[in-house]
Amino acid sequence: MGILVCAIAAVSLLHYLTPNSHVWLHPLLQRAYYIPILLMAFWFGWRGGLLAALIASGLYIPYIVMAWGSNSEYSSTQYVEVGMFFVIATVTGSLADVERRQRQRIEETAARLSETYAQLQASIEQLRRSDRLSALGELSAGLAHEIRNPLGALDGAVQILQRPELPAETRQEFAEMAGREVDRLKSLLTSFLDFARPQQPQRTMTEPALLLESIARLAAETAKMANVEICLEAQETAPISIDAEQIRQVLLNLALNAVQAMPDGGRLVLRSRQKDRSVILEVADEGVGIAAENLERIFDPFFTTRATGTGLGLSIAHQIVHSHGGEISVRNNSDRGAMFAVILPLAPLQPDTRT
Ligand SMILES: Nc1ncnc2c1ncn2[C@@H]1O[C@H](COP(=O)(O)OP(=O)(O)OP(=O)(O)O)[C@@H](O)[C@H]1O
Ligand SMILES: [Mg+2]
Repeated sequence: MGILVCAIAAVSLLHYLTPNSHVWLHPLLQRAYYIPILLMAFWFGWRGGLLAALIASGLYIPYIVMAWGSNSEYSSTQYVEVGMFFVIATVTGSLADVERRQRQRIEETAARLSETYAQLQASIEQLRRSDRLSALGELSAGLAHEIRNPLGALDGAVQILQRPELPAETRQEFAEMAGREVDRLKSLLTSFLDFARPQQPQRTMTEPALLLESIARLAAETAKMANVEICLEAQETAPISIDAEQIRQVLLNLALNAVQAMPDGGRLVLRSRQKDRSVILEVADEGVGIAAENLERIFDPFFTTRATGTGLGLSIAHQIVHSHGGEISVRNNSDRGAMFAVILPLAPLQPDTRT
């Protein structure tokens, strides 16, 4: 503000020092007053503007009286000009005040919004935490339930084995049963660890058709025993960047589920095809299909309808496919059986660097 007041004083001084003969210079100096007045009004509002106009007129009016008092026509235009100082100061100052108030309101709204956003983030985080906790609770309950059955069987077997009068043959039978239950517990824990501590995919370029062939080979024995015929319908596709071991585990899980769903035999179809920038791997069967109310739940950990199933196969498959940036879906076929589809994205197109 001090600089602007000095500027007004400087302009006034120049007026006083410039002889009246320099007629062209005076109007110019007079307009020079507007700059500090405008700036004062702009920065300090209408009060600042009026103060600047008052100082300017206070310094300029004596000069008008002194230098142009004899020329009433000229001096009256000068007074009008002084009046303009006040008009400009008030209008500019008021506009600047309005603009400042608006800016203040916007800043306040922005601050309130960012506060609300922070609160929202905190609530989302809290929700996520309680979601994680309830998922953990469900998972633990499922695991405990799965462990209880083989443990009960083991307990029974051990009690019987303790009887001294037990014939050797029966002893052998119960020892084998205990061994089977221990194996079941071991495989349950291995699957659970696969689910709870998923491995990052170690990707290599893989031919989907070759992958399906290896699934057909791996499932051949189990399929033959269940009277299931495996049909390979592999279409030519681009290779995909995947962890072949993990995707093989997914497809094998789907194939074994399909065989288990066809107790009276049938056809198991393994398909691969390319659609846009994805490769789709399908496993279709002619089995019992999935009840509508279970379609939503079959990927949940520990959801099973099989007496000896752990219900972890599909949840592991889901996790692996998602860690590859893909999708897994299921639907019942129109005639009979179910079809699972694993959709895996092809690597993004390399930008063409040729000119
Ligand atoms: N092809 C299919 N046809 C009909 N039902 C299926 C099929 N695949 C899966 N399901 C249903 O989904 C459930 C969950 O499958 P998931 O593979 O996760 O577990 P599971 O096969 O029961 O046990 P696990 O694979 O751990 O031995 C199965 O119990 C079954 O009810
Ligand atoms: Mg399974």
